[in-house]
Amino acid sequence: MYMPVPVHSEPYAVQRHRQALADLGTHALIVTGRSSSRTNGSLQEVLEVLQQHGRSVTVFDTVEENPSVDTVVQAAEAGQQAGADFVIGVGGGSPLDAAKAVAFLLAQSDLTTGAEMLYRSGNDRHVPLALVPTTCGTGSEVTPVSVLTRPALQTKKSISHKIFADLALIDGRYLATAPLSVLRNTALDALTHLIESYLNRQADELSRMIVDAGLTLWQRYRHVLETGEADENERQGLMNASALAGMAIAQTSTTIPHGLSYSLTIRRHIPHGKAVGYFTAGYLAAAEEADRQYLLCKAGFNDLNDFQQWYIRLYGRIEVEERLLRQAAEELWQNQQKVQTAPFAVTQESLYAMALFSRQGMET
Ligand SMILES: [Fe+2]
Repeated sequence: MYMPVPVHSEPYAVQRHRQALADLGTHALIVTGRSSSRTNGSLQEVLEVLQQHGRSVTVFDTVEENPSVDTVVQAAEAGQQAGADFVIGVGGGSPLDAAKAVAFLLAQSDLTTGAEMLYRSGNDRHVPLALVPTTCGTGSEVTPVSVLTRPALQTKKSISHKIFADLALIDGRYLATAPLSVLRNTALDALTHLIESYLNRQADELSRMIVDAGLTLWQRYRHVLETGEADENERQGLMNASALAGMAIAQTSTTIPHGLSYSLTIRRHIPHGKAVGYFTAGYLAAAEEADRQYLLCKAGFNDLNDFQQWYIRLYGRIEVEERLLRQAAEELWQNQQKVQTAPFAVTQESLYAMALFSRQGMET
């Protein structure tokens, strides 16, 4: 068990732990998206704290959904030119994953081969890094993983380096302005992290206890996904479920549903949580019955059908042609490291069967 990130999860976490944030360096590079961190107030709060402590700031605010390697290299170049000595990622999973890769690049002396360095094994050195999540799904603030898009290869892939943040400040208030679709997609991502961490060859008793706690919170606050109405406590609870899910996958990694989802996200632009959730039923169907029942029950579902009906009600049906599912299975088969994390025997055909199972549930 290794989770070295100091985590503060409470309303006004940025203000309450401002000294810890300011202590990370003298010139911050803030890595964020175009608009949501402005709408939810997180960017302003971070800027105010840095100003109060006399820190210089450069803001890189053009991180896109499913950030590309090119974006990360651009952000690192901007930070290097400005003389940034620490990085603060603010936003959903995309800015947070990008911020980890940027923190890694800023610790390298020469950025001319930045894109290749991300995928070459070697040192995991990075400049100090703080992460401030504003959605309730990725758990990126407590995982060492940075998934980037490589447009030339039409795929998403984790960089080769494990980057744990030096500080995570989790404030559920930032969810207040999140659109309902974002709440739903990200909370479903958190649920899939819990399920995939449990149904995982690398799971152990301790990581499963984290999953258990995460599912308890997830079930307690899933009603928020019906309308989006929530109080401060419920929002913080969703954030905590997401963080626990992140801590669980930090130990085990994700597995087959995540691996199958990348095709849907890249080729059909289906949001990450919704795409992973699509494949979750097929993965659960392939698992041992006792595990399946435990996970579904713990998350508040009667059975697989109940889960799929809930998915259709909240996320809608997705029409996916068999050809794309076959392609997803073929591509995932190339990534044996991910395939082998499933706790049961898997073949390329059984991957396809899991995808087809999910598709059939969408038709009934
Ligand atoms: Fe995910």
